[in-house]
Amino acid sequence: MSDLESRALAKTWFYRYTLPSGAQTPTYDGGALDLIHDTRTRMLDALLSTEFGDQRNALSAVDLACHQGWFSVHLAQSGFARVLGVDARSEHIDDSRLIRDTLALSNLDLVQSDVHALDTAALGHHDLVLCFGLIYHLENPVGALRVARALCKRVCVVETQVVPGQTGWVDYGSYRFVRPLKGSFGIIDETGETHGPEASTTGICLVPSLEALIWIMQRIGFKRVEVLPVPEDGYEQLVHHKRVMVAGWVE
Ligand SMILES: C[S@@+](CC[C@H](N)C(=O)[O-])C[C@H]1O[C@@H](n2cnc3c(N)ncnc32)[C@H](O)[C@@H]1O
Repeated sequence: MSDLESRALAKTWFYRYTLPSGAQTPTYDGGALDLIHDTRTRMLDALLSTEFGDQRNALSAVDLACHQGWFSVHLAQSGFARVLGVDARSEHIDDSRLIRDTLALSNLDLVQSDVHALDTAALGHHDLVLCFGLIYHLENPVGALRVARALCKRVCVVETQVVPGQTGWVDYGSYRFVRPLKGSFGIIDETGETHGPEASTTGICLVPSLEALIWIMQRIGFKRVEVLPVPEDGYEQLVHHKRVMVAGWVE
């Protein structure tokens, strides 16, 4: 077993990685969260195989809020020519680099940055952009979605917690100017948890309704927006529509 692998096995991870020796990284809560990652990976793979098939060696991808690199590593292993993982927390980028080096993935780059601080012009356009588990931890989710759109030349996949939506009509300044609601946001307080590895960095979190997410993705430039199907034996939050995975296509 290599020194890199020994270092990886000495930590507890958000994700269960299989290392070159066949050993697996220990995960939080004795593996209670493994199913959410497995379900999301299966849902993503179904889209990738329809969208890109097996020919991925000319494709690039960006994984926004990559945490300890699970989806970045998965894309790199699945044949993408270049993958960039981004996260606000430097400790996650260090862990992602440890896993990348342990698995010898030369097609994976990692950078520490707040999603809102990314220089999208410098990063260019990518075939696939992932935005998983991020926007419901943000006080500016629309801004983050605009970053995702700016980086995307083909398809962007957003995975998020959603809140029940309000519908109806609003007297918008006067009864003579009545507007329909396009969706809604719920406010969640994470101000006491900003130290947490999965949490918001600012503590003020705006969680969209599904209607809000779809409408915003259409308004910021995705021509087609679809909710992706969930396997029946998947993680309960996805099965019961508390979380969703939504794909937006640029063309
Ligand atoms: C719930 S975890 C999701 C991780 C991973 N994308 C997944 O779905 O498994 C949220 C991640 O968002 C990162 N994050 C929070 N606020 C961020 C921001 N403003 N910019 C970039 N990353 C952020 C956190 O550090 C954490 O890794």
